[in-house]
Amino acid sequence: MSIIMKKVITYGTFDLFHYGHLKILERAKKLGDYLIVGVSTDEFNKIKGKKSIYPFNHRAKIVESIRYVDKVIQEENWEQKIDDIKKYDVDIFVMGDDWKGKFDYLSNICKVIYLPRTPNIETTEIKIKCKE
Ligand code: CTP
Repeated sequence: MSIIMKKVITYGTFDLFHYGHLKILERAKKLGDYLIVGVSTDEFNKIKGKKSIYPFNHRAKIVESIRYVDKVIQEENWEQKIDDIKKYDVDIFVMGDDWKGKFDYLSNICKVIYLPRTPNIETTEIKIKCKE
């Protein structure tokens, strides 16, 4: 008898880990059995025009410690998603709905789901509040 495991993948920077991050990981995991998270490297953040407070190894370690997360990989570029989905045999690709439509091109290799963002919290806002 074979056990069929449904695999889910999501990506993000996850800087200053907050409640919205926790909720998207919780909801992503509920869609399947095994959750892979691509954490953006510091170099990739530069390409995205972001500068994180926490370095990659801290952000990756925090995400890896979340009970919903089974595996963390490095997100190094925009193009790797197709290869990751094939390599890890992913069934569902998940992102917050701030990315709605941006990854529809992946829908010919797996299911693409955009989850509503948790309202009133984001890293950018936390950074601004800390400066005030
Ligand atoms: N996310 C979410 N709800 C929030 C904030 C983020 O569901 N309130 C989701 C994003 O949609 C994304 C993932 O968490 O799928 C990682 O988002 P990230 O960009 O790291 O977090 P933000 O808080 O949006 O960071 P920033 O303000 O730097 O864009």
